[in-house]
Amino acid sequence: MSDPAMSDPAKSDNASLAARRDRSLPRGVASSTAVYADRAENAELWDVEGRRYVDFAGGIAVLNTGHRHPRVIAAVEAQLGRFTHTAFQVSPYESYIELAEKLNARAPFSGEAKTILLTTGAEATENAVKIARAATGRSAVIAFTGAFHGRTLLASAMTGKVTPYKRKIGPMPPEVFHAPFPTGIDGNTVEKSLAAIHYLFAADVEPERVAAVIVEPVQGEGGFHVAPTEFLEALRALADQHGFLLIADEVQAGFARTGRLFGIEHSGVEPDLVCVAKSLAGGFPLSGLIGRAQLMDSLDPGGLGGTYGGSPIGCAAALAVLDVIEEEGLLDRATAIGERLRARIEEFAAAGLPVANLRGLGAMIGFDVTNATGETCGVAAKAVTAAALEAGLILLSCGTKGETIRILVPLTASDAVIDEGLDIVEAALARITEKVDA
Ligand SMILES: Cc1ncc(COP(=O)(O)O)c(C=O)c1O
Repeated sequence: MSDPAMSDPAKSDNASLAARRDRSLPRGVASSTAVYADRAENAELWDVEGRRYVDFAGGIAVLNTGHRHPRVIAAVEAQLGRFTHTAFQVSPYESYIELAEKLNARAPFSGEAKTILLTTGAEATENAVKIARAATGRSAVIAFTGAFHGRTLLASAMTGKVTPYKRKIGPMPPEVFHAPFPTGIDGNTVEKSLAAIHYLFAADVEPERVAAVIVEPVQGEGGFHVAPTEFLEALRALADQHGFLLIADEVQAGFARTGRLFGIEHSGVEPDLVCVAKSLAGGFPLSGLIGRAQLMDSLDPGGLGGTYGGSPIGCAAALAVLDVIEEEGLLDRATAIGERLRARIEEFAAAGLPVANLRGLGAMIGFDVTNATGETCGVAAKAVTAAALEAGLILLSCGTKGETIRILVPLTASDAVIDEGLDIVEAALARITEKVDA
């Protein structure tokens, strides 16, 4: 029997929810804060104790249009009044087709495009591999260190980080090979990455067996490292030379975050398949795979899909998101926010705060936190996110050592809220510096 007190929101506070959570959820489901959400609006969130936070996490890159954008909510409410689910495989509906048409028209490659809609980012990356294998008749996939492509088994295999994503769950699906991502830090150059791919071709897999290379135009979880244009150009050239496909994983970088609809557009390189999710539907679960039309038709009817794939609620939300991006000029706004963030973070560095390797594209901005000896340091970055949280800012770290602070503030946030968040970041950096110096 359920305990009525357990479902009474008036009795919930962060500590009691944390205790209930520990008893009822596996520890593998981790949260970076113990701030239990009650309500949220644009770039602000209030917890169950009524405390307000500025939100620089945006639900991990899902909320480029902010929490509960009125246009998105209105579109979803209208859809709720019509139908919520039919399964597109049973009774299809127009919004799925309309969204596919709009995504095809905006695809970051020339020629005809087709789009399938799914639910999660991992499904988008998995389906990209299915299509690449079917289209090429080949098996192998090349991915990069630090990459994150999701938590399902094949997506975990493509993810370039063992702990916590691969530990204890091996063996991984075969035919996935990793080369170093050219972060530009610690000697990870484009030349080294390309040499490593040639090494793979010599030591592990012949290029004629490679179906695809998958790359994030800006690495998300791996540390907000921007893929250099010459690197993307070289991957395109290798793909053309050996007949494999170039997959752009835009799950985190896509949908206006970088100042373009897709991060790869900055390079001018044309991918063959593009994975999208997160901010596509402004807070509703929806993902997709956009690809060259002839490739997308490689699988037989029934070979693609999923019960919830292309949910009508998600499609309604995504159509509204595309309108909001256009009508509110969010591509330019992302560029302006990026400049604002950079200018302020450069000031932090100039003032001697422990900041290094400022980087990013548009409003996808990250920087490393250093320790007393000037090394980039996960413990120091964690201290910054903890101090920020105490002061009322939800802030995320990332990077292979957790050393990077990443900023994913909604593009609809006002300058005042962004500055409020940046003031807290500054104070948090100053606070950890005092602790380190003490
Ligand atoms: C680049 C990238 N690809 C794929 C995924 C997986 O998306 P999901 O968590 O929706 O499965 C993520 C999630 O963070 C991501 O950042």
